[in-house]
Amino acid sequence: MQTPTETEIRNALRAVPFPGLEKDIVSAGAVRSVSVRNGRAHVALLLPTRDPQVREGLRDEVARRLAAAGTLQAEVVVLPPGGRPGTRDPWAGRGRLPGVKRIVAVGAGKGGVGKSTVAANLALALRDLGLRCGVMDADIYGPSIPMILGLEDGAERVELTPDRKILPLEAHGLAVVSFGFFLGPGSPAVWRGPMVAKAVKQFSRGVVWPELDVLVVDLPPGTGDVPLSLAQGVVVDGGLVVTTPQRLAVQEAGKALEMFQKLDVPALGIVENMSVALCACGRRSHPFGRGGGKGLAGQTGVPLLAEIPFDAPVVEGEDRGAPPLIEDPRGTVAAAFAQLAVAVAERLGAVATVGADG
Ligand SMILES: Nc1ncnc2c1ncn2[C@@H]1O[C@H](COP(=O)(O)OP(=O)(O)O)[C@@H](O)[C@H]1O
Ligand SMILES: [Mg+2]
Repeated sequence: MQTPTETEIRNALRAVPFPGLEKDIVSAGAVRSVSVRNGRAHVALLLPTRDPQVREGLRDEVARRLAAAGTLQAEVVVLPPGGRPGTRDPWAGRGRLPGVKRIVAVGAGKGGVGKSTVAANLALALRDLGLRCGVMDADIYGPSIPMILGLEDGAERVELTPDRKILPLEAHGLAVVSFGFFLGPGSPAVWRGPMVAKAVKQFSRGVVWPELDVLVVDLPPGTGDVPLSLAQGVVVDGGLVVTTPQRLAVQEAGKALEMFQKLDVPALGIVENMSVALCACGRRSHPFGRGGGKGLAGQTGVPLLAEIPFDAPVVEGEDRGAPPLIEDPRGTVAAAFAQLAVAVAERLGAVATVGADG
């Protein structure tokens, strides 16, 4: 059998999933080089994680695919994060955003479980702790932060600097930027990987944030291109996953936790949303079942940081820009978010610097 060409090898590697993501290793940028010399194939992989299990597992999988594609002799090397000097490394630009001390990503997981609600109200509760906070709505497919925070006119109001950087808008004391400010009828219905990567990069790097103690990023559902591009572009200090007690949601949250791990983002904790409903008579019910978040915490060792009750007025309030932290700051939902904010701030090592030296 003839040794496959470089193109054939690359095509064969498109069948290898990038661990933790809905992407293959080629389109995720993990295949740094492929060369065939004297009948011998050389493949260099670059992975963001130092986890030896992931690195070795992927190396073995690639070796298997190469053999299946007809390569008799192959050398597969896995480069450490950062890569070799001189190679183009998609993770090389990873740095901190100027003026932003900590970044926490809320996400992945199933759609509709309350990721945006958690992102917005967590930011408000962190603000109540005296931290300067921002929200970056990176849900390119369905940005809902403008509605929740009352910035539905954001597209008309948002301004760019002369060098085309985005100036955040302000809502309830938060600095806010949303993809929703820039998506219009002309934006693509289907975002392809490279477009997402470019958009997320511009979005994370191209914003003039004020000095912030914590920037909360609202991710789209799933384990796709947005979290990958975000983690390649900036250092994300922690990830939170949101689930309801429903089994399907718990399963998706589990995948999200795994994704954070593979992207080298420390998993800070699990938030169970819509866990109990309280009726006016004070009785508790469990509209989505019970114990999902606790079970996931038990399985993964990632702590359950908060259980946010289901409260019907949240829906109506968020539809008109009044999240529970603003609408009902003394209610049970607000109290649960306040507790979450303390746990998150502690884990991030975030400290208020208003009025301090720095
Ligand atoms: N604890 C809660 N109680 C009642 N409604 C909630 C709660 N959390 C979220 N919701 C509502 O559920 C819907 C989906 O929430 P959202 O935050 O947009 O989810 P996601 O970002 O995961 O898609 C919204 O209408 C929101 O107002
Ligand atoms: Mg959302």
